[in-house]
Amino acid sequence: MKLANQVAIVTGAGRNIGEDVSKLLARNGATIAVVDLDKARGEKVAADIVASGGKAQAFVCDVSSEDDIVKCVKDVSDAFGRIDILVNNAAISDNKNMFDITTAEWNKVLAITLTAPFLLTKYVAKAMIANGHGGKVVNVSSTSGYYGRDRATAYTAAKGGVVNLTKSQAIQLAPHKIRVNAVVPNKIGSPVGKDEFDPTRPVLNLVGRPGVPDDLANAVLFLVSDESSFIVGTALFVDGGCTTMMPGSA
Ligand SMILES: NC(=O)c1ccc[n+]([C@@H]2O[C@H](COP(=O)([O-])OP(=O)(O)OC[C@H]3O[C@@H](n4cnc5c(N)ncnc54)[C@H](O)[C@@H]3O)[C@@H](O)[C@H]2O)c1
Repeated sequence: MKLANQVAIVTGAGRNIGEDVSKLLARNGATIAVVDLDKARGEKVAADIVASGGKAQAFVCDVSSEDDIVKCVKDVSDAFGRIDILVNNAAISDNKNMFDITTAEWNKVLAITLTAPFLLTKYVAKAMIANGHGGKVVNVSSTSGYYGRDRATAYTAAKGGVVNLTKSQAIQLAPHKIRVNAVVPNKIGSPVGKDEFDPTRPVLNLVGRPGVPDDLANAVLFLVSDESSFIVGTALFVDGGCTTMMPGSA
């Protein structure tokens, strides 16, 4: 088992990408702290993992609250005695253009999508350093962090921030044997903030099918495994090659 005896925190783990990341890391031996704002969703994912022979516990946490984050990191440390892996997956989108989005909406998207990966990594890294085992952090960005859009103004800004935050975190945590990387999905399963999967969702990529949450989970597993021990501060695109194409060229 690649991740035997390791403890992983996955945020936004109650459904879709976070759920599949949690389940794949659990199948590879990790104990999962299933962190979500939605209690029922988190408990269902944790119960599924336990029912299939894995180890997991749900933790309710609003990642836009620094107090909640501090409590959650302490609760996970108390429950499992160590933290080896952090996957900063929770995010929300605004789907608004710059004239329609209010300042409160902008701040909420930034708090969950950019500030939370900053704060969670800070507090989890402190715990990792105290444990002396090193660790791995994966931040979930988006192809929306590399391109402008006619809407999702706050989301695109936040996801772009996640990419460069990853680099600073990688530099600052490397001396502590904590590897930080990012993954960059495009159109995986249902759209952010939605639960329903539309198989007819139009995709323009080189693979010719929409992504599924397991595509992203496999990338995260690689980045938290020893196989990627020479990969630090990078952003791994899990996008079917869509960002390889010049718009209108395919
Ligand atoms: N789905 C896609 O096509 C896609 C594309 C690019 C990037 N991404 C990124 O992948 C990640 C997961 O996306 P998804 O589509 O699975 O999202 P989702 O909306 O389906 O699930 C997000 C989960 O986060 C939880 N959450 C929301 N706010 C929270 C908060 N304040 N505190 C704690 N938990 C909270 C929700 O309850 C939910 O369970 C996100 O970072 C997203 O930006 C997704």
